[in-house]
Amino acid sequence: MKKNISQLTKSNSITMITAYDYPTAYIADQSGIDTILVGDSVGVTVLGYDSVSMVTMKDMIHHLSAVRRAVESALIIADMPIGSYKSPEIALKNAKRFMKYGADAIKMEGGQEIIKQVKILIKNQIPVCGHLGYLPQSGQQPSVIGKSLSSAQKLILDALCLQKAGAFMIVLELVPIELAKIITNMLHIPTIGIGAGPYCDGQVQVFHDIMGLSPKLYKHSKLYFKGNIALINAIKKYIKDVKNKKFPTIKNASNIDKKVVIQIKNWLKAKNLSKKASY
Ligand code: KIV
Repeated sequence: MKKNISQLTKSNSITMITAYDYPTAYIADQSGIDTILVGDSVGVTVLGYDSVSMVTMKDMIHHLSAVRRAVESALIIADMPIGSYKSPEIALKNAKRFMKYGADAIKMEGGQEIIKQVKILIKNQIPVCGHLGYLPQSGQQPSVIGKSLSSAQKLILDALCLQKAGAFMIVLELVPIELAKIITNMLHIPTIGIGAGPYCDGQVQVFHDIMGLSPKLYKHSKLYFKGNIALINAIKKYIKDVKNKKFPTIKNASNIDKKVVIQIKNWLKAKNLSKKASY
């Protein structure tokens, strides 16, 4: 059954994972995940871009559409890429495109500086998930945000502002544990942490990080599957089987009627092609 936003309550330990394609989204959805984030992390994680700042609306729609086709139950949140919400009007136009291609909600990075964008989307019935703390679209190296009094104050005010504007949820990325706890306790909307400790109302992880498909293991992540090793071993077995003629066997393909084989051979003879063909 399709999940909806009203089910994502603070008391529910909300689960979120990224997915960018049909098989991954299918696996995540069938596992019972609450929400799937079609994150702009797709750029670095699977498209081989240097940073998320290269991700376009076209990229996002391509991946969002694939995810939409796979998902029956989870709520799909699409990440607005850099430049796609420069102004309220641009944000509305692009968010409407995301909704048309199957998003249930959108996510934007930032606080008070994007509040007009948040408000216009909500006025147009487009649910908004905020994103505070470390903002990948800032182009800065990942670091914990909110360690000083002034940066913590800014984060708190941004979170309150997003909530007041009508955001239904806020992602807190690389925020110190104590600050994430304070913000979580202050808000009536849920917080979703990544590298923000255990006191958020839910957690988000990048699929490739927890499945061992990323080049490294991050402090904020946990390895649930040694994907790289498992896949390399599986492909090695396939290579070995092909080289040793163990795969495919005749069971992996189909036959034609013996009579048709004879007809083909006779035809080859008649056309004087039988020497060229080996059978
Ligand atoms: O793009 C993404 O995957 C994200 C998560 C890290 C929250 O924004």
